[in-house]
Amino acid sequence: MPHRTELREIASGQTRGVILSGSPSSTQSRKSPRPPDGLFDLGLPLLGICYGMQLIGQHYGVEVLTRDQREFGRARLRLTSESPLWKTLETEQVVWMSHGDYLPESPKDFVQIAHTDGKAVSAFMHETRPIFGVQFHPEVSHTLQGGQILANFVYEVCHCAGGWGAAAFLERAIPELRDKIGNKRVLCGLSGGVDSAVTAMLIARAVGNRLICVFVDNGVLRKDEVSQVVNTFAAQRHVNLLVVDARERFLRRLAGVIDPEQKRKIIGEEFVAVFQEEAAKIEALDFLAQGTLYPDVIESTSVRGPSATIKSHHNVGGLPEALHLKLVEPLRELFKDEVRAVGRLLELPPEIVERHPFPGPGLAVRILGEVTLERLAILREADAIFLEELRRSSWYERVAQAFAILLPVQTVGVMGDERTYESVVALRAVDTSDFMTADFSRIPWDILARVASRIANEVRGVNRVVFDVTTKPPATVEWE
Ligand code: XMP
Repeated sequence: MPHRTELREIASGQTRGVILSGSPSSTQSRKSPRPPDGLFDLGLPLLGICYGMQLIGQHYGVEVLTRDQREFGRARLRLTSESPLWKTLETEQVVWMSHGDYLPESPKDFVQIAHTDGKAVSAFMHETRPIFGVQFHPEVSHTLQGGQILANFVYEVCHCAGGWGAAAFLERAIPELRDKIGNKRVLCGLSGGVDSAVTAMLIARAVGNRLICVFVDNGVLRKDEVSQVVNTFAAQRHVNLLVVDARERFLRRLAGVIDPEQKRKIIGEEFVAVFQEEAAKIEALDFLAQGTLYPDVIESTSVRGPSATIKSHHNVGGLPEALHLKLVEPLRELFKDEVRAVGRLLELPPEIVERHPFPGPGLAVRILGEVTLERLAILREADAIFLEELRRSSWYERVAQAFAILLPVQTVGVMGDERTYESVVALRAVDTSDFMTADFSRIPWDILARVASRIANEVRGVNRVVFDVTTKPPATVEWE
């Protein structure tokens, strides 16, 4: 929740505990984010992390100090006192620190429960009330037992049951959707990706054929993508699926366009136009379903209050406004792995559930230079070979995203006794959990060798294959 959440909402009776998160702000600045007045008097369990801990210290009368140098990186933490937070933990812990400000001492009625070699208080708890603070970051993977510490707070201190899971989500979400949608009709755009597929299946479970799915073939989809989506959804009894063949109009507008931003803009605009035309043909629509996930919600929730701009989804920007429909976003509290778990429970096939992300502008941003039918055909084949070999070697599930890119250069090669002068295909595979940063995947050489040899031999027009070994940053995942 944003720090501006009203006390009333927090005190509503549903709250089991509050975690005050870290922040790049300093508690010494008057402008820094603060929880609502009265939070500390609610009697709720509290855990402050880094900046959050300093807020607690400050509230209970300790002055926060600033050090000349930040304490940053791995640190050895010694647990010096029993605490519910430390349940099942060894005395020596490896934790991650990242702070400049610090608390030189614990407030009155608090005890220090761990320390590092530094001057700062590393962790404290109240002697009688369920209030805790940790200066390190339990939420990052570098704090090796951080997950256990958070779990201890949630289970041991807040006494949560831990019954949340995909099944519990379905049990709650389906009746809620029925209530919300009533006897109205819902429109849902399918992209071939997991988010929109799970959204559609979930709504179909709730309201059956009052859901109408639209799948726009924009001409820049991957090999067999249309048939895969059609087969998946046509097999479901309840789903109304409308496939719109808009290939020509997208490709006509893309003709001659080289600038990546221009390509993205054209595809976005055209998508809204096609979708709007289709929606106009359907009678009595009330709702538009979208596969918004929790990270999208976080990104678009402004900590500075309601006046700041809200991010619009970069695939369907402006769509809800243009259609005058109410939004249904049943996945807005889920992370990607949770969406996948729900998809499995809804019996969506693994090809859909385990699918790598695919950008809205599709192959248009993976064909550097002009998008033509011929170049689309080359990229589709090369990409399909790459993915097929990754699946065959069980590497598809081990990488977060993998795909081929067609470069706008030609190089000299030799085939038989003939000189060739043909295109280059680049392969990209990345490891990442959030796509904000990424490393290139260490795919074994022999798999890459097989992919390269197959592409050069089987795809006409390609005589060279290269592998992208750049991280993000400074590169991005996509090439455009
Ligand atoms: P970048 O290239 O920004 O990509 O490092 C990060 C992730 O986002 C995907 N991506 C998009 N997804 N619409 C989307 O739905 C887009 O316009 C778009 N551009 C990039 C990309 O495939 C990667 O997973």
